[in-house]
Amino acid sequence: MAAKAHIGQTLISGGRVIDPANGLDAVTDVLIADGVIKAVNPSIPAESLDGEVQVIRADGMVVCPGFIDIHTHLREPGFEYKETIATGAAAAVRGGFTTICAMPNTEPSIDNGAMVDYVLSRGATTPARVKVIGCVSKDRAGHELADMEELIDAGVVAFSDDGDPVYDAGLMRLALTYSRGLGAPITNHCQEHALCCGGVMAEGWVSSRLGLAGIPAVAEEAMVARDIGLAELTGGRLHLAHLSSAGSVAMVRQAKARGLLVTAEVCPHHLLLTDQWALGLQCSPSVSAGPAAYDTHTKVYPPLRGDLDVAACIAGLADGTIDCVATDHAPHDRVSKECTYQDAAFGISVLETALGTVLATVHDGSISLSDMVERMTTGPARVLGDGFAKYAGLTPGTPADIVVFDPNALWTVDVNDFASMGRNTPLNGVELRGRVAATLVGGRVVFEEPGMLNTGGEL
Ligand code: DOR
Repeated sequence: MAAKAHIGQTLISGGRVIDPANGLDAVTDVLIADGVIKAVNPSIPAESLDGEVQVIRADGMVVCPGFIDIHTHLREPGFEYKETIATGAAAAVRGGFTTICAMPNTEPSIDNGAMVDYVLSRGATTPARVKVIGCVSKDRAGHELADMEELIDAGVVAFSDDGDPVYDAGLMRLALTYSRGLGAPITNHCQEHALCCGGVMAEGWVSSRLGLAGIPAVAEEAMVARDIGLAELTGGRLHLAHLSSAGSVAMVRQAKARGLLVTAEVCPHHLLLTDQWALGLQCSPSVSAGPAAYDTHTKVYPPLRGDLDVAACIAGLADGTIDCVATDHAPHDRVSKECTYQDAAFGISVLETALGTVLATVHDGSISLSDMVERMTTGPARVLGDGFAKYAGLTPGTPADIVVFDPNALWTVDVNDFASMGRNTPLNGVELRGRVAATLVGGRVVFEEPGMLNTGGEL
């Protein structure tokens, strides 16, 4: 990991430390030595430490494990004009994410060990930890299983044909059957093709008024139902990507109550934005601006839906039905978005706005701050399995992957400041509340927002 040179010890003092892995939410100090957490203690005076110490004063800030994103499109190889592994990782640490998991819808797709090696080696020189999700099917074509064992041996952490579903129920059954023994989940992008038929936004009064073809919620829900049935049949590990409808959340709640190995994620935009953003209205009391009518930056799969769906996603996240927030960071080039709504690519650049977006649910009282942190740290780690626990807590001896953020800092999104090459967000110009001040990976400060921290000098 390339990063600024660091001295052996760093003390983060005076912050509100939220560490769901260890049941901690208190003002306390965190000492880092040689890249790992050394101690978490209410009072660690810098003077009491031998040797040089870098001190980060975090008064008024939250200090927590770095966020883990289990759904990131890094576009490399094949689409380096949209994003590279390096720019995506830089965007990640600006957003407080210390570990990101690259989706395999690249060109060529990540469906064999050599491709996994390629992405891992490119990721090794970036500021974030880059993990890889391998394809379910060869070339993501949906016909034949990829060599899942080869992919696991190469280091993948999950399997997905994301961007497309695993349409073939028989293939999904096989993949889920193998997922158990391989110890990695199958992340499915649920979208029943025959029900989407060219739709570009959620089906409803907004799509009617705009004259755009709609996608009904049942397009997602039909496949969620199928996959839960297959998880039950196989005992496999099913992870449901980017859930967006009230019906899907209800099905996951039932599946969990029945003890099935089903986990689910929700994206930041599905917690804040509705389909009315495509009308060009300012639709949320917690934001101060919004996109113009027909703004293609509101085009995403699954589509932005109505208030009831947003409320159900928030409630699902709050009660733990939805295990985690995942960004589905989908950077696109200008040509892919500066066109008609019909022709535009699906996707939003999310990494750098995720925290401010998700915090809206905390500020309006829908979810506690500590639960929000859980859904961005231990929640995603749990989806991927035991190997991730070490990245998700401030446990002595584990890597010091940490984010320091001000939950109340007001800032206005300006895509020109993005580290991501993807400037495609409907949040450009919108004021968000909550901003990352610093991100540490393996004890090194890999990002610092100028002027937010009192460090007594440059970090
Ligand atoms: O909007 C989306 N864009 N949804 C996805 O599932 C895929 C993604 C992409 O790769 O652009």
